[in-house]
Amino acid sequence: MKFSTKSIKIGVEESDPSFGSVVPPIYPSSTFRFPSAEEGAARFAFKSPGMIYSRLANPTVQALEKRLTAMEGAEAALVTSSGMSAILTAILHFAKAGDHIVAHKSIYGGTFELLSKILPKFGIKTSFVDFTDPANVEKTIKKNTTILYFESPTNPLMEIVDIKTICYIAKKHNLLTLFDNTFANPPLQYPLKLGVDVVLYSLTKYINGHSDVIAGAIISSKKIIEDIFKRTLIFFGPTLSPFSAYLILRGMTTLNERMKKHCENALAVAKFLEKHPKIERVYYPGLKSHPHYKLAKKQMNGFGGVLSFEVKGGYEAGKKLVNSVKIINLAVSLGAVESLIEHPASMTHSELSAEERKKAGIKDGLIRLSVGLEDVDDIIQDLSQALDKV
Ligand SMILES: Cc1ncc(COP(=O)(O)O)c(C=O)c1O
Repeated sequence: MKFSTKSIKIGVEESDPSFGSVVPPIYPSSTFRFPSAEEGAARFAFKSPGMIYSRLANPTVQALEKRLTAMEGAEAALVTSSGMSAILTAILHFAKAGDHIVAHKSIYGGTFELLSKILPKFGIKTSFVDFTDPANVEKTIKKNTTILYFESPTNPLMEIVDIKTICYIAKKHNLLTLFDNTFANPPLQYPLKLGVDVVLYSLTKYINGHSDVIAGAIISSKKIIEDIFKRTLIFFGPTLSPFSAYLILRGMTTLNERMKKHCENALAVAKFLEKHPKIERVYYPGLKSHPHYKLAKKQMNGFGGVLSFEVKGGYEAGKKLVNSVKIINLAVSLGAVESLIEHPASMTHSELSAEERKKAGIKDGLIRLSVGLEDVDDIIQDLSQALDKV
């Protein structure tokens, strides 16, 4: 099956053997009857695939895991209650006290907080370096390094990291790669094919795509996913509700078409902004002026729907702009049908100190825009009238 077919078909039939429903049913049951004591014992011993209890598995949630696995071309997937719980579960599954992680300097603010402030309390330390120059990564690896953690395109500067090269370095040093693919999910980017060991998602973004669910996912080999499931996930309990799983399954049916349109609209908006006299700089990997344009073209099948830009006049000018938009929503998050605009220094990246933001290249006047699926002429017109007010 091709991508669009998988995103509509996979997970439906198995989740409703009784009535032939064309969409996966929602199973709210928290627990499931065993037909016999023997079958109950077999399920607890993981010898029978039947349901036990919804913290462990649930038919609607499992339908979503199957569809995600197919979409990624992977062996297995687990879904969680948020992107952050997927990231935390995966890191705590693999890392122990005394371990060292090397992470890209520019990652999602919540993940940065987790790695820089929370995990050191448990003896897991992280060094942040610029992964766009892979030599930095190799230099930072220590004897106790176990994990390389990164994203591409990065949030909010849309830098592109050479995934294949980073994975090559990881394999050379026997390290595990954890990669957050939230900004460019399939069909735009397939990290497992580029050598990544574990792919992480905030499903809250493009994969659900409609700003009505918080969810996450961990995708990898069957062996790794079974291990995370049996030894960590079921005891941490970051369970996704079957109602949310249903909404994501529904959102995914249009993923291919949505991603195409997000890319098309974002490129048009980026070109408009690049020519505007009040704009200092635009960060979008689909622009030929972007320093990583060629790499993005090589490792991605489209440049994504998020871009960022600096308005001349810094913070005050940026604030005036986001206060003046009418169609675009002044709100955090990304990957939704609605266009969302935000100010990283005071919002998504406010956990970082001014020094940390400077190191990550996030200027005070930087604005991030997740370009939605409204008519692109209306999005551009909205930005144009807002820029007139700056
Ligand atoms: C790249 C990235 N990863 C992870 C997360 C966290 O996801 P969630 O909000 O679903 O917990 C976000 C949230 O914005 C994100 O942008």
